[in-house]
Amino acid sequence: MDSQSTATLSRSFPPSGPSLFKRDLTESKRDLAGFWYGTIFRTSVAGRPVVMSTDLEFNHYIVNQEGRLVELWYLDSFAKLFTLEGENKTNAVGLVHKYIRSLALDHFGAESLKEKLLPQIEEFVNKTLQTWSSQNSIEVKHAASVMVFDFSAKQFFSYDAEKSQTNMSEKFTNTLGGFMSFPLNIPGTAYHKCLKDQKEALNRLRKIVKAKIISPEKHRGDFLDQAINDMDKEKFLSEDFLVNLLFGLLFASFESVSAALSLTLKLLADHPAVLQELEAEHEAILKNRENPNSMLTWDEYKSMTFTLQVINEALRLGNVAPGLLRKALRDIEFKGYTIPSGWTIMLVNSALQVNPNTYKDPLAFNPWRWKELDPLVVSKNFMPFGGGIRQCAGAEYSKTFMATFLHVLVTKYRRDANQVAHVLAKVALSLCHPLCCNSVSLPPLVLEAWTRDLSLLSI
Ligand code: HEM
Repeated sequence: MDSQSTATLSRSFPPSGPSLFKRDLTESKRDLAGFWYGTIFRTSVAGRPVVMSTDLEFNHYIVNQEGRLVELWYLDSFAKLFTLEGENKTNAVGLVHKYIRSLALDHFGAESLKEKLLPQIEEFVNKTLQTWSSQNSIEVKHAASVMVFDFSAKQFFSYDAEKSQTNMSEKFTNTLGGFMSFPLNIPGTAYHKCLKDQKEALNRLRKIVKAKIISPEKHRGDFLDQAINDMDKEKFLSEDFLVNLLFGLLFASFESVSAALSLTLKLLADHPAVLQELEAEHEAILKNRENPNSMLTWDEYKSMTFTLQVINEALRLGNVAPGLLRKALRDIEFKGYTIPSGWTIMLVNSALQVNPNTYKDPLAFNPWRWKELDPLVVSKNFMPFGGGIRQCAGAEYSKTFMATFLHVLVTKYRRDANQVAHVLAKVALSLCHPLCCNSVSLPPLVLEAWTRDLSLLSI
């Protein structure tokens, strides 16, 4: 990271004065006032001291210190929304964490995808795209959020969007509005509205959890059913805990996948050569089948080399999770500096993903670069799904969902060359270095540039 970029950040978040941070009294060490313009520096966000790091070594060290030197912590507004504090906190380490992780992997991991979810995703995407194609235009980010929400909620608690009397995705996507807002809970503020929407969303989830607890005979083997069956064994699985957990997991799933997917579609629309190679890969899959109308298989998914390179490249450029936030549980020593206990640390891994020393011409969308990148370098410099014990439990699910979506899109729909993809201004996905240059506002793609392939209408 160059000094100019860090200087930009420091200016935009003025650092607090030295009196606010704890001094290390041993002579040989320095406090964080020294970390101003390097790969690690201190700043202040909403009055809290925050250490920002784009230091490869430090970031890897910290993600592997969960529960020892640090704990997952997403600042006040997130902490409140996702219950990261108190008796029912969902970010606990140890047994609670192990249980949730294994439950999530049981339902969204590779085995489940291979055995069960892949054809369901394909069918769901097929239906969704048919609905989209009957409309004049689609605001992709929102529509993708609804699609991923509805599908994920089906896995979590057998939610059926078509039959449900309440539109749950709407409540959840509304809550997003105040997510990154200043946590000022007074009427009229975005945060106040967000808390109100969150309350309603939680109420709906509570009704679902209660209904399932009192009717075990109606269990269908979804994520929530399994957790309820385990309530006797795992004492932390209270009703409150389950409600908060579902709330957090639903967000983790729909917001990130829809953002990554919208960005991929926008990048494909802007790079016809990439789209062409993507189409060729998927046409080859159809050609190699005995029956071109059969469903996507796990082996076919695994053979989508270029598709996965496109997805990686979109994840590299779009800082869907701009940084990982941790709270120091005790003083942390690093390279002679001390990060005081209680401080927030932000590991800005997305910045590592646009480091010109690792990625040539880092801001260019170039999926072909993945052919040449050394896997060892990639494993250290590419962490869109985090790392350590908190590494994303939905990573394979997200990639499978996106690849399947692209498969259906490019095999059943054609880009209409006469139409320019329209853009509206709403979603801002940062395409460049998240800490420095002005982020490019990437508006949602309107899907009218894609039309259903008439030759396939009989399918
Ligand atoms: C493109 C999509 C996604 C991205 C970029 C993403 C990114 C991440 C990142 C960076 C973390 C680590 C957070 C931290 O360490 O502070 C994480 C954790 C997690 N994600 Fe995802 N995620 C995605 C999709 C999903 C989906 C679809 C699900 C659920 C089905 C999911 C479930 C989780 C869970 C349960 C964790 C916590 C894992 C643990 O603590 O062991 N994510 N994700």
